[in-house]
Amino acid sequence: MNRSHTCGELRGSHVGTSVTLAGWVHRRRDHGGLIFLDVRDRSGYVQVVIPAQAKELHKIAEDVRSEFVVAISGTVRSRSPETVNKNILTGEIEVAVNNLEVLNTSKTPPIEVADAKGNEDEQVRLKYRYIDLRRDRLRESIVFRHKIVKAIRDFLDQEGFLEIETPFLTKSTPEGARDFLVPSRYHPGKFYALPQSPQLFKQTLMIAGFEKYFQIVRCFRDEDLRADRQPEFTQVDLEMSFVEMADVLNLIERLLHAVVPGNPHIPFERIGWHDAMDRFGTDKPDTRFGLEIVDVMDVVRASGFKVFSGAIEKGGTVKVLNVPGGASLTRNEVDQLEEAAKKLGAKGLAWIALHPEGPKSPILKFLSEDEVIGIKKAANAKDHDLLLFAADEWEKSCAILGEIRTLVAKKKKLIPKDKNDFVWITDFPLFEYSETDKRWVSRHHPFTQTAGTPEQIEKQFEKDPSTLRAKAYDLVYNGVEIGGGSIRIHQRDMQEEIFKLLKISAAEAKSRFGFLLEALEYGAPPHGGIALGLDRLVAMLQGFDSIRDVIAFPKTQSAIDPFSGAPSEVDKKQLKDIHLA
Ligand code: AMO
Ligand code: AMP
Repeated sequence: MNRSHTCGELRGSHVGTSVTLAGWVHRRRDHGGLIFLDVRDRSGYVQVVIPAQAKELHKIAEDVRSEFVVAISGTVRSRSPETVNKNILTGEIEVAVNNLEVLNTSKTPPIEVADAKGNEDEQVRLKYRYIDLRRDRLRESIVFRHKIVKAIRDFLDQEGFLEIETPFLTKSTPEGARDFLVPSRYHPGKFYALPQSPQLFKQTLMIAGFEKYFQIVRCFRDEDLRADRQPEFTQVDLEMSFVEMADVLNLIERLLHAVVPGNPHIPFERIGWHDAMDRFGTDKPDTRFGLEIVDVMDVVRASGFKVFSGAIEKGGTVKVLNVPGGASLTRNEVDQLEEAAKKLGAKGLAWIALHPEGPKSPILKFLSEDEVIGIKKAANAKDHDLLLFAADEWEKSCAILGEIRTLVAKKKKLIPKDKNDFVWITDFPLFEYSETDKRWVSRHHPFTQTAGTPEQIEKQFEKDPSTLRAKAYDLVYNGVEIGGGSIRIHQRDMQEEIFKLLKISAAEAKSRFGFLLEALEYGAPPHGGIALGLDRLVAMLQGFDSIRDVIAFPKTQSAIDPFSGAPSEVDKKQLKDIHLA
């Protein structure tokens, strides 16, 4: 079993070499007399031939089936020209076998390895994950992930970062999702929380003087799952002392330039949050295509169409999305867009189709000719285009057309597949109003800095909390948020001021974050950092829609692990130990 080579490494240059290989039977073909096996290991597969005259070996090979584990010895030889397979790297050669041993048998696998159809039920794929992982796509994905992680570690090491582990059994950290709780056996009625991120620990490491920290770390969030969300996922988490925002952005740009295949162009574009909302209707804009949203408030302010003028009167605005060539959409297709807008909370989705013989629209009768000309000019619209309108509060109008923009781009195939765009979104609002909690909450987290002294901040908060801007930044890749971070508050009075504005009482602040508040009093340096969503990055770099395809053992959409059967019930005794009924 002492392997001399791996299956996938054999080439024409090995002809004449004696080799010993081990692996799985990928395919078996019986050509009456000659039996061919494709033997596969992690590196790939190679064709081995059992000649008819080798009676003993032939008998063994007759019983071999797909996914049996075998060891073989033999000699590498060239294939005859008509049997060369240009599609595989080992396709020039084959191995003439002189010894074959079955190391283990296999039942017929419930999913095929060699000829994966890719249409099986995901439950089955996840239950038999070890077979799923044998397939090229997943194996290559896991290898790719390893390479990215290795490159990230190497880069950060070179930059002087230290990898430091932080606890999993910890106190609740406020990233906004629900915590996973772990009951304490020693302390009846008390719980640890699994970290939603190492946020407070990494800040504490800055106070401890480590200056540059990173960790490739699992984070736990009990939230509703989607293709790009898992209950446990991995962050490339880092923190730096004595930095400003530009230093953090610059470091991440150089990191991604170094590790992402194709070395993306840096610096990345930076778009202020307000601008991103205005132009793309989202704080995660896909900038690979145009289709930007424009404001026509000034054109329709005094319009006879009350939907427009009324929205503006109430302090809102009117936004328009110009779909080039969109006049050819059928009435039914336009209705579908309107339905989609309504699902997002829109009151409607007024439209004007610009046919060469004249504009067509149910709202035309309410608009003056000048208004139509003004709208066309603002939206840079031509014949054959379709104008879609949202009249509402500013953020809502933006958000509705932002979603419609993405829908239209997908439908009309406007997204260039070969383009990749990283953009920074900066200048986020510090706070946002929570309708559920009826109070202002942090948009990023409450440790994020804003410009000004505590007194200035309090004044501005009293005037209008929505105008405070955070020193926070998100990294967006082709319309997906793959990272976020901020410059932190490093002074206790400022931190207390923010808690006060968030209506977190002194007592609550002390019980939840007392350890941080106290640490801030012992020489906390200015610091800031960021976390990248590793699973999302690695999935997107491979063109995968789901992060489940870059995680060896992911959970399903309903947070189940079909392989191990987690979550499951536990013994009464286990419950008693941790004081749970
Ligand atoms: P944030 O909460 O923005 O920041 O998380 C950082 C990045 O992690 C990814 N991500 C996820 N990926 C998969 N499944 C999930 N459930 C999930 N949730 C988040 C996203 C996101 O951009 N402590 C701060 C960082 C900091 O301020 O330094 C934090 O955790 O790609
Ligand atoms: P109505 O006057 O309600 O029949 O609406 C006329 C057109 O305006 C319809 O196409 C509606 O979808 C559209 N509409 C209604 N309210 C809004 C709004 N707030 N924003 C954009 N379009 C709207």
